[in-house]
Amino acid sequence: METKVTRDPHSYARPQEAVIRHLDLDLAVDFDKHILKGYAEYTLQTAPDAKEVIFDVRDLVISKITLDEDTTPAVFSTGIPDDVLGAALTVKLKPGTRKVRIYYETSSDAAALQWMDAKQTAGGKHPFLYTQSQAILCRTWIPVQDSPGIRFTYNATVRVPKGLMALMSASNPQQLSADGVYTFEQKRPIPAYLMALSAGNLAFHRYDDKTGVYAEPETMKAASYEFVDTYKMLVAAEKLYGPYDWGRYDLLVLPPSFPFGGMENPCLTFATPTIIAGDRSLTSLVAHELAHSWSGNLVTNRTWNDFWLNEGFTVYLERRIMEELYGRSYADMLAVLGYGDLSQTLADMKADGNMKDSRLKLDLEDRDPDDGVSDIAYEKGYLLLRTIEDAVGRDKFDPFVKKWFAEKAFKGADTEEFLEFLYANLFAEGSEEDKKVEPKRWIYEEDLPAGVKAPVSERFEKVKQAADLAAGGGKIPAEQTAAWTSHEWVYFLRSLPAKNSPALMASLDAQYKFTQSGNNEVLFVWLMMAVENNYADAYPELEKFLLHVGRRKFVKPLYEAMMKNPATTEMAKEVYAKARGGYHAVTWQTLDKIVK
Ligand code: BES
Ligand code: ZN
Repeated sequence: METKVTRDPHSYARPQEAVIRHLDLDLAVDFDKHILKGYAEYTLQTAPDAKEVIFDVRDLVISKITLDEDTTPAVFSTGIPDDVLGAALTVKLKPGTRKVRIYYETSSDAAALQWMDAKQTAGGKHPFLYTQSQAILCRTWIPVQDSPGIRFTYNATVRVPKGLMALMSASNPQQLSADGVYTFEQKRPIPAYLMALSAGNLAFHRYDDKTGVYAEPETMKAASYEFVDTYKMLVAAEKLYGPYDWGRYDLLVLPPSFPFGGMENPCLTFATPTIIAGDRSLTSLVAHELAHSWSGNLVTNRTWNDFWLNEGFTVYLERRIMEELYGRSYADMLAVLGYGDLSQTLADMKADGNMKDSRLKLDLEDRDPDDGVSDIAYEKGYLLLRTIEDAVGRDKFDPFVKKWFAEKAFKGADTEEFLEFLYANLFAEGSEEDKKVEPKRWIYEEDLPAGVKAPVSERFEKVKQAADLAAGGGKIPAEQTAAWTSHEWVYFLRSLPAKNSPALMASLDAQYKFTQSGNNEVLFVWLMMAVENNYADAYPELEKFLLHVGRRKFVKPLYEAMMKNPATTEMAKEVYAKARGGYHAVTWQTLDKIVK
C-alpha cells in the first residue's frame, strides 16, 4: 500500500480500511436499452479489523452483492446521492473477506456513456458506444473506488452484438470475434479514471509491432494516413523518459461527438476525428496523449487538486516529443500558441473575479473537479517546467524528469512531493536557482510571476508582420504563405485586430477560404472571429460545425461568443436545441450553463 495518505475530496472510499487491488469485470452491452449489465468483482486488500468496504456509485442499479464463494446476498447500503459525487456504496465484510462481487446495471443516462444511433456514425449502419471516465465519471458505469490515488489491475469480459468490436484501456483484439464476446487484460495497476470501453463497427490498421489505429472502416483511410508518425513519437519519448511500459500503443478514432481532443486511456488513446486534417498538422495531440503514458498513467496526480502534475508535465513532454520529430521551430510555435491560450484564460479569470483557480495547486473541495480543467494546469504548468529547464539546462533537467517518472511510477504524486523531489534532486531550497525560479510562487500564488519569460517563435514573427499588413488592407505575397502550416494560419488569425470591418472579413475569406477550411483549428478561430465581427456569411458553416462536432474546447467558446452577441443569441439557442441530443454529457452539462 502507498505510504502517503491524502484524503480525496471526490471519493467516498476509505482505502486505509479496505482498498481494491484487482477487478474482474463482466459486462453485456445492450444497445436497445442503452445499458451495461453484469458484475464487477473486486479483490480487496483490507486492514485486519476492516468491517466494510466503500465504493463510489452514481446512477447505478445494484441488484445483488456476494462475498468470496458464498452466493447468499451480502448486506449493503447506498448513501444519499450527491449530484456530482454520486453516493457511497457500503458493503459489510466478514472476517477474512477477500472478494466482493457487485451485480449491477447502468442507467440509460449514465454520464460517462455516449450511446450513438447508427445515423450518428460515419458508416451509418451500426450503433456506437464509448465511455469517458475522467475525472469522476467511472462511477457512473462501474461501482469503483473512484480516486486517482487508488490503482488496480483488471480483467474484463465484454459481450456486444455479433459483428461489432469492443475495445478497452487494456490489451485489445485486432479482429472481430465470432460470437461478440471479447476478453481484456490490464496487467498494470491503473486508477479508475483510466477505465475505458468502446464498441462499434471498428476496423484495425496495424502500423508496426507497437502501434496502430482503430476507426470505423469509412474513416480508416484518412485516419491511418494521419497518424503514421506515432511510432516515431514513441521512440522519441522513450529516448527522453525511459521505456514505454504498457505493451502496445494504439489509437481509437471516435465519432465527432467525443467531448475531448484526446483521452490517454492506457494502451488505447481515444481521439477526436477533428484532428484528421489530411496533412498531419494536428498530431501534437497524439504526442500529448502518448506522453501521458509517463505523466499521468505512470505518475498520477494523487487528487484532482494536483491536476497540473498530469497535464503540465504532459504538455511539456508533448512539446519535447514534437521537437524531436519536427524541430525546435515547430515546438516553439506550439509553445507560443499555448501561451496565447494561457494569457486569454488569465484575462477571463480576472474579468470573472476568479483568480483563485489561477494557482497550480487547486482547491476543489465541494466543487466538481471539472471546474479545475483549464489552461492553468496545462500551460502555466508547462511554463513552470520550462522555467526550471531554462534555469538549470537540459543536461540536468532531462535526467531529473526521467527520475521523477522512475521513482514515482505506479504511485500517486502530489504537488508537495514534487517540490520535495525538486529540492532534493535539482536545486536546494533557498539556492540561487530557487530564488530565480520561485517554484512556490508559481504553485501557490495567483497569476504568473512578474518577469516571466514568454515563449517566442521566429516563424511567428513573420506571420505577425503579415497579419499587420493584411489588417491594413495590404496583400501578402503568395510565396510567403505557401509553406505555412495550420499553426501559422491560426497565429495569423489571432494576430488580426479583434474587430474588423465587414469588407476586411469578406476579402480575407475570399482570398484564403477560411470558412471552407478543412483544418478544424483554423476553422474554429475563424468562426470565433466571424461571430465577434457579425460576419454572417460564415453562419451556415458555423451551424454545421456545431451540429457535427461535440469537442468542448471548440463548442464552448463558440456558444459563449454567440450568446454574448445579441445578433447571434437566438441562433445559438436554436442550434443548441438541435445539437444537444448528439453531444456527450460532459459537453451538454457545460453548455446547459451557457445557453439558457
Ligand atoms: N486527460 C485529458 C482530457 C481530460 C482532462 C478529460 C480532464 C477529463 C478531465 C487529455 O489528455 C487532454 O488533455 N486532452 C486535450 C488535448 C490537448 C491538450 C492536446 C484536449 O482534449 O483538448
Ligand atoms: Zn492531457
